[in-house]
Amino acid sequence: MQNLSKYLPAYIDRNYKKVEGWLGEDTVLQITRINSVQTKLGISGNVGEIGVHHGKLFILLYLLMQNEEQAIAIDIFEQQNLNIDKSGRGDLSIFERNLETYAGGKSKLKTINADSTTIGAKEILSELGGKLRLFSIDGGHLPNIVRHDLNTAASAICDGGVVILDDYFNPEFPGVSEGVNQFFLLDNKELVPFFVGINKIYLTTSKYAEHYMDFFTQADLGIPYCETKKFRTYDTHLSPIRISEMFGSTVLSYSPDKFGIVHRLFRAIKRNRTQLRKQLSNSSTWEYLKSTKLGNFIRSIANKLAPY
Ligand SMILES: C[S@@+](CC[C@H](N)C(=O)[O-])C[C@H]1O[C@@H](n2cnc3c(N)ncnc32)[C@H](O)[C@@H]1O
Repeated sequence: MQNLSKYLPAYIDRNYKKVEGWLGEDTVLQITRINSVQTKLGISGNVGEIGVHHGKLFILLYLLMQNEEQAIAIDIFEQQNLNIDKSGRGDLSIFERNLETYAGGKSKLKTINADSTTIGAKEILSELGGKLRLFSIDGGHLPNIVRHDLNTAASAICDGGVVILDDYFNPEFPGVSEGVNQFFLLDNKELVPFFVGINKIYLTTSKYAEHYMDFFTQADLGIPYCETKKFRTYDTHLSPIRISEMFGSTVLSYSPDKFGIVHRLFRAIKRNRTQLRKQLSNSSTWEYLKSTKLGNFIRSIANKLAPY
């Protein structure tokens, strides 16, 4: 049996950056934390993704597997004539090579090489032999495809499982929000959103939403939190997390850019000092602030905390 845990730290730390695709540092953090909640709550199951491209996010899911769990990758791969909205470009051989390189093999991998709208939960579950606890949707970005894939995921995840849906807020792909809205208004009976993480939304079965939200308010996302146990007392002025509502459910939404500079500062100090200046100088807020009095003040603190 493959020992996946030995590949995980390097993938989370740096290797994910070497795989072509779409996965940011915040999402890596969010998915690994969701995985920790599942471990704590004893939620087990398989993992999978519709739309894997070269495996950037999929490999993270793969490395989070425990024991007998298995992973399923669904993509049209070489049949790119079916990629109507031209979102990414799956390539099975690059994908498998990345799995070999960053996860040490593919012995726990199942693949379905097909247009996701031609399959449903039944095919996925018969491949895996059981439900999923983590299911990422990032395949076709048109309304009918997204709606279909969400229905597939809703039937394929276990109680407390999490569906991670990409691009709901991406203006490049308005079809994604349309498909999600149709799903919530016309089809869904099981899933509730609980977290908005920049471009991704996270859904789970209703009785578990509070567990995940509770965890996210307590989690160290780079800013000190106070009195976060009860969502009511959460201080949105100090935090990149806001309590909001979506499709009739309470959600936490995370927008680091709101307090981008404070957030980056705290996180960089915590991680390592050399990153601090890089993080600061990449911030658009910093561009705006750097010649002001506040900018000078921040610079003087940075000089003390993270000298060159
Ligand atoms: C945006 S990319 C996925 C990015 C990937 N999740 C990552 O971590 O980098 C979209 C992928 O969906 C695939 N795709 C597009 N339409 C599809 C469909 N109808 N069914 C299955 N896969 C599809 C594309 O081939 C491509 O690999």
